[in-house]
Order: sequence, then structure tokens, then C-alpha cells
Amino acid sequence: MKKSAQELRSHRWFGVTDMRSFAHRSRAKQMGYGPQDYAGKPVIAIVNTWSDLTTCHTHFRDRAEEVKRGVWQAGGFPVEIPALPINETYMKPSPMMYRNLLAMEVEELLRCQPVDGVVLMGGCDKTTPGLLMGAISMNLPAIYLPAGPMLRGNWNGEVLGSGSDVWKYWAEKCAGNISDDQWNEMEDGIARSAGVCMTMGTASTMTAIAETLGFTLPGASSIPAVDANHSRMATNCGRRIVTMVWEDLKPIDILNMAAVENAITADMAIGGSTNAIIHLVAMAGRAGLKLDLRKFDEISQRTPMIANLRPSGQYLMEDFYYAGGLRALLWEIRELLHLEAPTVNGRSLGENITGARIFNSEVIRPLADPIADQGGTAILFGNLAPKGAVIKPTAAEKRLLQHTGPAVVFTDYNDMAARIDRDDLVVDENSVLVLQNAGPLGGPGMPEWGMLPIPKKLLKKGVRDMVRISDARMSGTAYGACVLHVSPESFIGGPLALVQDGDLIEIDVAGRRLQLLVSDDEMEIRRARRVIPKPRYDRGFGAMFSAHVTQADEGCDFDFLLSGPQTAEPEIH
Ligand code: FES
Repeated sequence: MKKSAQELRSHRWFGVTDMRSFAHRSRAKQMGYGPQDYAGKPVIAIVNTWSDLTTCHTHFRDRAEEVKRGVWQAGGFPVEIPALPINETYMKPSPMMYRNLLAMEVEELLRCQPVDGVVLMGGCDKTTPGLLMGAISMNLPAIYLPAGPMLRGNWNGEVLGSGSDVWKYWAEKCAGNISDDQWNEMEDGIARSAGVCMTMGTASTMTAIAETLGFTLPGASSIPAVDANHSRMATNCGRRIVTMVWEDLKPIDILNMAAVENAITADMAIGGSTNAIIHLVAMAGRAGLKLDLRKFDEISQRTPMIANLRPSGQYLMEDFYYAGGLRALLWEIRELLHLEAPTVNGRSLGENITGARIFNSEVIRPLADPIADQGGTAILFGNLAPKGAVIKPTAAEKRLLQHTGPAVVFTDYNDMAARIDRDDLVVDENSVLVLQNAGPLGGPGMPEWGMLPIPKKLLKKGVRDMVRISDARMSGTAYGACVLHVSPESFIGGPLALVQDGDLIEIDVAGRRLQLLVSDDEMEIRRARRVIPKPRYDRGFGAMFSAHVTQADEGCDFDFLLSGPQTAEPEIH
């Protein structure tokens, strides 16, 4: 033990004898707690992103109680604190606008209150990076409790995957291949329990990354939300965080470049969401680690993708758990990992995964027989994306990974929605669909519009994939030859803003190139003529977001939240 009771942060609220501490103690008594509940004990915040609209976290009220049980057992004092319940389904214009707000909230909730350690409860996409970014900046002992995936979807004996099968069957409905009644029946079967999307979308990618970084208990990220093992994991989180406080084991002790490289390697091996790149850059940035997009590409090129999970593969997260889960996958790729990296349970990553077995080698393939020889994500550069763009080649039709075609340009989402299905749209299967003004500032909030729909008239001809380019993001459950995160974005004058209908665009994934085949002189003429758009917001959080959000290649964090001198502890008067 490194700490004594007098050295606890909460001691300054509860342990001293002055007028303020009288107020702090008397108010604890107001809630029915006596000194035997809190005196000399670590105060453990349970930061809970539950809400009636956060559909993936409906089990979090129960889990919070289970965490509390563990905290009490270990001699801590649990306090549940709600935090911005970002949900992927209902928040508009994009939940991504609110990731940094959650990070700020977590940091300040922990700073301004008598907290010694924290259990972070999240899972739905942006909650994982938001909670961890705030906790890293505050740097109190922290453990992450992932919500876990929901059960497999089921419709008429077919397995349904969150998101992925929505896009798939919507295309079939638009093509006239399934009926309205069949489509409506799917609503009953695609989301059958608490938990996050059960494809390898952004949520399961980010919880796998949190585990690989060392922020969860071993195996935690793979447990289905409604499995009794999930409840026991929650209680274990409560027990462990109390010890972490006494050991003074903090996020900065865990998050180093070796851990980040491990997380990127895991991301590639699972065929993770493209969104992970933005979030990892931002999380590493909070620890003062600068992460170049080329690092992702370098690791991608040496990491086979071995998880056979939708949208890149066939199975779902429930299958992944039964096949051995993330521990088994990491053990299979151990030669690519820094096994000495520390984790929240006080043991190294290598110790936590040693001997984990694969029980179904169709779901988690052997390293010698992967789904793809390289990782699930590639980074492209070129005159259309001087600071980079992202594609998920494993989820695209192979013929499109080397392609040149004429651009069909949509100036924003509304333009796209109004024209994409019109019969007079000049488009064929070789066209390259381009969506402008969908980036961090243009969207705003970089919405998940990057999987542009295939025009209906092409769907009817049997076309199911085309090259699509935007400065938007794409749902981790989505698929297709979608070039995303083009940086700098079009709204601030990035080259994507200068593309016109009919321009030829060349994509070469093997060569990592994305080129607009237009001369530099012509680009300059177009740039000089460009009308600069007005900011999206004049007031409120939107104005703050617009003034401070960074571009995709920098993680879309706020410039003033990137690492700097540690904010001072509050005076307690
Ligand atoms: Fe919550 Fe997909 S909607 S993880």
C-alpha cells in the first residue's frame, strides 16, 4: 500500500476538523451515512451513463448496485454520479459532438468532489472514449466497466447483426427484394436485450481497445451484457478500484505508447471500427502521446485480421465470447504485442492473457489462417486528403480497392438525400459518390453519413458497393468502399471542397493513395472562387465546439483539452 488514510484525496473533505468539514460530514449524515461508512475509506465514484434514452445501458442501474457491493466489500465508500448519457441512437446532429463534453464533465465531476477513485460505466460508442479521456486528464485511479454486447439478433431463424443487417436489408427493400411486412418484423428481433451493438462496431471496438489498453479487468469487454458473469465482473470492478486507490495506480501509469500500440494491433486484428482511429488519437493525446495516422497504417500492414465478426466477417459478439473472447484473440497474436504493458489489476497484459484458449477457430481464426493478411483499416494520403483519410478494405468489395471513376458530388447531406434516388441523377456503378460538408465543423460533429446510400436505380441493377468519399465518419457496423475522415475537411476549405461533378478520382488502397485527377492550376482557380460558409453556431455549446474542435487526424478533441500543465486541485474553503 502506498497511501495512508490521511493521504486520501477525500480526507481533505471528511477527515480534517474545520467548519467546512463539519458541513461535509453533516451532509453525509443527511443521506443516512455515519462515520463508519466513510471515515478513512476511499470514496469511489461510480460514474454512470444510464438514461431512459441510452438504450444500450438499460442494465446500468443494476450494475451500479453490483459495483457498490464490491466497493463496500473492499472497505470503500461508493457514490454513484450520473454523467452525460451519450446514446448513439437518438442524439442529433451527431453524438460525436458530445464526446468531448462528456470528457470535460467527467474530469470536472472528479475534480470538484471528494473522490479518490472511479469506476467508469460506459459502452455505447462515444461513452468509452469520453469517459476515459476525462479520467486520463484527471488522473485518479480509474477502472472501466464496459456495458457488454447485447444478444444476437433473430428474425425468422436468421441471425441479425446491429447496424450491418439494417443497411443490408434496407438495400434489399429498396431493390424490391423484401416486403414492408418483413422489414417491420425485423424491428422485433434485432435488439433483444440490454447491451451495445453486437457486431464489431464502434462500441465493441472501443471496449476491446479499453481492455487492451489495460483499463478493464481481463476479459471484461467480451461478456454479454445480460450474462451473469457481467454482474460478477461489475462487483469485481468495485472491489478492485478500492485496492487501486491504496496502490495509487493511476491512468498515466497504464497509458503509455506500448499500450497504445497494443490497442492499435488489437483494433486491426478484430477488424475494428474506423471510428477507433479518431478516439485513440484523442485518448493518447490526453496522456501527452502524439499519434500519427501513419502508425495505424504501419501496424495494420503487419497485423492479420483474425476475428470473423460482422461487418468484416460472419459472426457476432456473443459468438466471440463463447469462442474465447478478447483474451483468446490477444493470446493468439501475442507475438505482435508488448506483453509487459501494465493493466488495472496490477498484472501485465501478458500475465492476464496467458493460456487463454480459442474454442471456435471459425470465429477467432488462427494467426496462420486469418480472414485477411492485413488489419481492417488502411490510411490513404494524396492531393484529396493531404492529412489523411481512412478506409476499411476488409468490409469493401475487392474490385473497388483500385479504382478510377468520375465524381458525383453532393454539397451536403440534404443535397444528397434530395437527389440520390432521382432517375435523372447521372451515375453508374463506376461513379465515385462524394459528400462534402460532413466533417467536424461542417456536419457538424462529423456524423456517420460516410456510407452514402447506393442510388436506387443502381440497387435495382444489383449494385451493392461503390466508392464513396466524404469527410464524415461511418458507423462501425457499416461496410462498403467508403473513404472517410478526409482531412482537412471541406467546410474549412480542404481539397474535398473543390471536387466537381465529372472530375476523375483515383483510389489505390494497396498504394495508399487518394488522388483528384485535376491540375494544381485548376485547383487554385476553384479555391479562389470558393464561397466560405458561415459558422454553424452563434451561441452555446455549438459555438464552443466550432471554435475549438480539431480535425479528424488530430482526434477531434478540443484544442484547450489537450495535454498541458495539470489543472490544480480545488481549494477547499
Ligand atoms: Fe449503442 Fe450501437 S447504439 S452501441
